[in-house]
Amino acid sequence: MPKDLFNIAVVGAGAIGHDHIASFKQHPSARVVALAEVSPQRGREAADQHGIPTLVTDYRELLKRPDIDVISIALPNYLHATVALAALKAGKNVMLDKPMATSAADAAKLVTEARKQGVLFMVGQNMRFTSECQTAKQLIAQDMLGDIYHAKTAWTRRSGIPRIGSWFTQKKFAGGGVTYDIGVHALDRCLYLMGEFDAVAVSGKTYSQFGPRGQGDGNWGRGEIDPKKPFDVDDLAIALIKLKSGRTVLLEASWAAHQPQSDFNGTQLFGTEGGLLFPPLQLFRKTEHGYSSELVTPLPPLVNTNRMVHFVDVLLGKAEAFVKPAESLAVQKILDAIYLSSKTGKEVRIR
Ligand SMILES: NC(=O)c1ccc[n+]([C@@H]2O[C@H](COP(=O)([O-])OP(=O)(O)OC[C@H]3O[C@@H](n4cnc5c(N)ncnc54)[C@H](O)[C@@H]3O)[C@@H](O)[C@H]2O)c1
Repeated sequence: MPKDLFNIAVVGAGAIGHDHIASFKQHPSARVVALAEVSPQRGREAADQHGIPTLVTDYRELLKRPDIDVISIALPNYLHATVALAALKAGKNVMLDKPMATSAADAAKLVTEARKQGVLFMVGQNMRFTSECQTAKQLIAQDMLGDIYHAKTAWTRRSGIPRIGSWFTQKKFAGGGVTYDIGVHALDRCLYLMGEFDAVAVSGKTYSQFGPRGQGDGNWGRGEIDPKKPFDVDDLAIALIKLKSGRTVLLEASWAAHQPQSDFNGTQLFGTEGGLLFPPLQLFRKTEHGYSSELVTPLPPLVNTNRMVHFVDVLLGKAEAFVKPAESLAVQKILDAIYLSSKTGKEVRIR
């Protein structure tokens, strides 16, 4: 008989770990049965708050348990590939928070292992799951825009560094700064809407203008802080990405910048017959009555907007995986190319 109840173990009980737990608990076929967290205090608080029966400090104990079906990873970036690979090798289904890894080489190993094991492996690109993004996808499918030839996509904050001195702002733990942190969301969502992930060339430039001066601090994350640690990641990134088809994407991501909005997280698509921008979701096109700029009412979503509920729906055979490992690998290659291009001052070709 097909399985109708899945045991979930979450690894990492920081800011987003709590969200993983609460989100899985929304599905009647999911039970969060275990938590791994190196901080005994954060682990105990989370286990008590969410009523999780097993708490360990070493995630490897959970990989040995045959009753655990899913490992959901909410760890600092440098641990993503190591823990995900170990979980996949143990035959577990894996939900991995973004960014997929801190190098495309590591990300590729995850794709290979997930395929070999035949398990479900998804990167938690929750910005694809929003109502606006899913409505936009449906407008595109209805051919409202014609051929999309260019896009601008951004997540820019005025003062949103996830706490200076946390692991987020140290390259050895984060792998990169804003590019990996929120640039990944803006890019993934845009490529999903364009229906194309493979890029051939990337020109990028990253900056660190605020963090090194102790400015632009935000309030995200629960891990330890040591403000004396050097801020050695980017707090602004821009890139021109040329896709295989010849279409282009302009990406912008900032943790800190002098800009009008405190937080802008949106995408704009340019098509031969229309344009689209969100938030809020607006459609621009020529009609018989002149040029129209319409606010679009959200359509019913294509998949559950809760990524963890969707993940369990896929396990149950009720939905097709919305974020595919090969797509996440292609995104990782572009992010890495942005850093390389910024370092070398040259356009980077992707094969
Ligand atoms: N999808 C999203 O919208 C979203 C939002 C925020 C963060 N994230 C991602 O989630 C991940 C975690 O971010 P966060 O904001 O929760 O960070 P955080 O610092 O708040 O929490 C990380 C937790 O991991 C724990 N940890 C570290 N090493 C561990 C280990 N070996 N075993 C078990 N626990 C360990 C830390 O003690 C800490 O409690 C990051 O990769 C981040 O990029 C995603």
